[in-house]
Amino acid sequence: MSHGAPAGGGAGGPQGGPDSPLQIDRTALESLAALLLEKVGLKITPDGYYGLRLAMQARMPALGLSDGQEYVRRLRQLAGETELRGLLPLVTVGKTEFFRDSRQFKALEHTLMPDMLTRARRAGRQVEIWSAGCATGEEPYSLGMVAVESGAMNGEVDIWATDLNPAAVEFAKEGLYPVRRMIGISEERIQRFFSLSATGYQVNPGVKEMIHFEGHNLAAPVFPHVFPATKDLILCRNVIIYFDQPTIRSLMDRFFDALRPGGVLLLGYSESLFRITSKFEMYEVDGTFAYRRPLLNEHPAPPPRPSAPPPPVSAPRPPSPMLTRRPTTGTFRIPVPSPSAPQPRPRPTESHRSPVERLDDVVRLIERGDFPQAMLAVRRLTDDHPEDLAALLTLGNVHALMGNSDEARDCFSRALRAEPLCVEARIYLGLATMQEGKLDEARSELQKALFLEPTLSLGHYLLAQVHEQKGDHEAARRSYRNAVSQRRFGQRALLGHYPELPGSTDAIAQAAQYRLAALSES
Ligand SMILES: C[S@@+](CC[C@H](N)C(=O)[O-])C[C@H]1O[C@@H](n2cnc3c(N)ncnc32)[C@H](O)[C@@H]1O
Repeated sequence: MSHGAPAGGGAGGPQGGPDSPLQIDRTALESLAALLLEKVGLKITPDGYYGLRLAMQARMPALGLSDGQEYVRRLRQLAGETELRGLLPLVTVGKTEFFRDSRQFKALEHTLMPDMLTRARRAGRQVEIWSAGCATGEEPYSLGMVAVESGAMNGEVDIWATDLNPAAVEFAKEGLYPVRRMIGISEERIQRFFSLSATGYQVNPGVKEMIHFEGHNLAAPVFPHVFPATKDLILCRNVIIYFDQPTIRSLMDRFFDALRPGGVLLLGYSESLFRITSKFEMYEVDGTFAYRRPLLNEHPAPPPRPSAPPPPVSAPRPPSPMLTRRPTTGTFRIPVPSPSAPQPRPRPTESHRSPVERLDDVVRLIERGDFPQAMLAVRRLTDDHPEDLAALLTLGNVHALMGNSDEARDCFSRALRAEPLCVEARIYLGLATMQEGKLDEARSELQKALFLEPTLSLGHYLLAQVHEQKGDHEAARRSYRNAVSQRRFGQRALLGHYPELPGSTDAIAQAAQYRLAALSES
């Protein structure tokens, strides 16, 4: 199927391309954008309609539909929920960008790529990289640029870039990007790796030849073209969020097999293998975290420190039957330090410490109840690392706890701009609004989080609390029961820190059972 639009096209783009029978008009795109906002809180502006169109082109044929309006009607039906889950990973297609996640790319530039090249040269072989879920190609092209910058010669690096969405793959193959998609690339790189044409920026052949694009479904049970122990690096970022646990587990098994011993797997920001698999060792490289297939004959790595990212929702605590509420009277509110206000000098060691270590310090300050110091430390961290989602979410939580609700909202909105489907931002926004007493808003945010991740026990638990506070005991009981029943699914760690939340799956289930018992007595 053709993507049908040169370099991303305009807001609406053409109607599916000359070889496509699909009818996707502007009204269908608008209706789909409205539906996604309503159900998931995903804001798609007309600029993102091209991505919507790609996603519809990928999904509609499987349902035997050619009319975009009919597709949106299907999604609105009760049974449309499954389809909506299938569509969601695709609509974030527009969310990819060159050099996405600067910390990972710094690690690639400084350590991972040079190391891979050295090892491959020593063994007289190619470096093999797989960009799995490559969307419209920005990720593999960024990898190609880093490879060239690291001194890779012709034929030394092979990048296999795959995606489920055939329209995205076709687009990626062209390597032609409109100006608005060039955010994130330095002028120097643009000069070196692109040539400007009438229709956009064309990736130069030197980088393009390194990459071969292909359609590929990561959820398929077997990967016949992937040979064992051949890949040096796999990037699978911002893809697995909608996969259920068995699918993720089996995918990770196949990634593990595909990697050489010592080969590295990079996941997206909010994705982790916590409670999914312990086959990989997690390690820190240049301030970011990566997973590695252990070298042969190496003892399994010790488990990561308990506070290593992605951090658990909170350190395991005894079950707390209800969240600790901010007192409604006597709430203290510190003035938010303005950028020009004098700030304590960073400790000399701070710049040498990784963002992870610095966030650990913030968590310790929060746990001690020292919110003003926690605020200063986490603000410095987000200033130094604006891309650090865990720090940004934690800053939002500290603001919320101190009663700075506008600032808290601002942090969560920034997190959602960076990661439009960030479940954590919805959960924390739900908590913040619950504590402000805005229960309808809290319910809506938590429902969005649960739509995105229905097995999130904590989300059900918090939603139950909102229902309880609204006096809807029947709904509260239902949600507490849901919280308990999610125990059968491993619970992933959430990014960011909020104190006083029941930390472990068992603690949430126990707290929910406690409330169920209390409700049945009332
Ligand atoms: C948000 S984009 C991520 C792009 C890029 N990895 C990044 O982080 O910028 C997610 C991509 O995953 C792809 N995807 C979703 N489900 C997939 C599957 N089952 N197999 C392969 N790709 C899939 C989507 O088509 C989409 O292009």
